[in-house]
Amino acid sequence: MAEGYPQEQRDAVYRVIAERRDVRQGFRPDPVPPEVLGRVLAAAHQAPSVGFSQPWDFIVITDRARRERVAALAGRHRDAFAADLPGARARAFDRLKIESILDTPVNIAVSCDRTRGGRHTLGRATQPRTAEFSSVLAVANLWLAARAEGLGVGWVSFFDERELAAELGLPAHVEVIAYLCVGFVDQFAPEPELATAGWARRRPLSWAVHAEEFGRRAMPGEEPVDQLADVLAAIAPPDAEAMAAARERQDRMTKPRGSLGVLEDVSVRLAGLAGGCPPPLPEPACVAVFAADHGVHAQGVTPWPQEVTAQMVVNFLAGGAVVNAFAAQAGAEVTVVDVGVAADLEPVPGLLPRKIARGTADFTEGPAMTRDQATAALVTGAEIARDLVAAGNRCLVTGDMGIANTTASAALICAFTGADPADVTGRGTGIDAATYARKIDVVCRGLDRHHPRASGFPGASGFPSAPGLSEPDDPIGVLAAFGGFEHAALAGFILGAAALRIPVILDGVIAGAAALAAVALAPDAIAACFAGHRSAEPGHAVTLSYLGLRPLVDLGLRLGEGTGAVLALPLVQSAARALRDVATFDSAGVAEKS
Ligand SMILES: Cc1cc2nc3c(=O)[nH]c(=O)nc-3n(C[C@H](O)[C@H](O)[C@H](O)COP(=O)(O)O)c2cc1C
Repeated sequence: MAEGYPQEQRDAVYRVIAERRDVRQGFRPDPVPPEVLGRVLAAAHQAPSVGFSQPWDFIVITDRARRERVAALAGRHRDAFAADLPGARARAFDRLKIESILDTPVNIAVSCDRTRGGRHTLGRATQPRTAEFSSVLAVANLWLAARAEGLGVGWVSFFDERELAAELGLPAHVEVIAYLCVGFVDQFAPEPELATAGWARRRPLSWAVHAEEFGRRAMPGEEPVDQLADVLAAIAPPDAEAMAAARERQDRMTKPRGSLGVLEDVSVRLAGLAGGCPPPLPEPACVAVFAADHGVHAQGVTPWPQEVTAQMVVNFLAGGAVVNAFAAQAGAEVTVVDVGVAADLEPVPGLLPRKIARGTADFTEGPAMTRDQATAALVTGAEIARDLVAAGNRCLVTGDMGIANTTASAALICAFTGADPADVTGRGTGIDAATYARKIDVVCRGLDRHHPRASGFPGASGFPSAPGLSEPDDPIGVLAAFGGFEHAALAGFILGAAALRIPVILDGVIAGAAALAAVALAPDAIAACFAGHRSAEPGHAVTLSYLGLRPLVDLGLRLGEGTGAVLALPLVQSAARALRDVATFDSAGVAEKS
């Protein structure tokens, strides 16, 4: 067996990998000696390539006038990107440096000729993109060698590729892969600058390692991770000390005690969740609109055709729905998650394709989903929360879309709270008396069929449980019996936020029904939940009082999408900001009431 390197040399290899940084600032004007640049380029040129095609070329640019033109190209795209960002993100982006084209003595463009080597290039025939992958590996080699030489490298991708190619005189068949700014630096940051700036977080390795098949997370030598169990295990009660500190600070702030009313409680809860006072500002915020279809639609519980779910998804993605308008006003991002829409959706930016199935089954005829599907949707929701937080969000907001989902919500609310279907079933988007009566009957029939509780429940007695479903204290069974995929995914999203101790602002009755499931699975998850508003749906008031949550806004909204929650976002943010920014009597020299 070939021997590995001696320990010291191995350490050096791992060290250069760990300490390679994308550098955007702190470059020195010192020129890069040709022999150093030559060594770094030689390292790049030793990269692996598909069929040994070596598709790269390196264009070394030092001319100031050319770099000024390239910097102007990047500036235009930077401005266009900035103009598209929601509020808090735009402010954070403003503080970021994304290129050092003029601050570095040398720029290197790495290109790719995907025709090099002819048509029989080994491996490229089946996967043409391997040509570009190969050039990227040359970049990686260059980046590592540069680090070892004490040279900082910053990759700039704010370009229209053809514009840049024209500036560099590339022929039509050659593509720019990377534009790198290279120069000596005094020091390398220990962590990615984007992490230090709070723009994004590093994902733990365990999230990225799957055993045998995608989704079966397991580190080598370890048992596969039960993702849901991990999320549930990470959920803990709020920090009592931080809450006491927040309460005490509220009392010392330059205002009469208690004068911020409910917002004082919000600030105390945010501190308890964050485990410190003052808590971080809950921004940037992202609304995740979970969309899915419902088999119970077939029972005629709504006048809206099922296709409207998919059509509204397209509308959200085009920015044309109310939630988009409200989110733009509040400075929040909108992400749409297809967890079970009964249509094929075009892949577009902003859409997360996480379809569990094309809609649930009709819960009056059998369980809406299988237990595995319910678990998969829960895990999906938790992963989305995790990914949105890793992407830098500090507040999550629930949204939903699913024609007939108020019917499923009513059944879930009855199952979890023991409420009477007639008290929690609402008129949803607006229905006539006959449809309303049918809707209540559908909820009753579902409850009778799935027998969610042993007792304390109208219609519960005398019916056997569906096998494996809906036993008492079986929240996943209840979700599977009645829920939509968006309910289960939203429950996972709430649990994911709670596990990360990030606030999640709940929208209306659909989010409320999901929160009931989340709290049934992990009672401490309630610490992360903030009720954005009270919807006009009767089941929502029942849910909020069951959960002990006080809605922040009460405007008779009954739209869903996340609209009510987004309206509450500035309230939650203001509560945190007040706790951070408002002076105390002692610090401001203001006399207190005797
Ligand atoms: C394909 C690619 C494109 C990138 N484009 C840019 C860019 O346009 N501007 C920038 O500042 N950084 C860019 N980066 C650098 C990343 O932001 C950086 O690698 C990441 O934050 C991780 O930090 P680290 O490289 O210091 O570990 C790019 C990196 C890659 C791999």
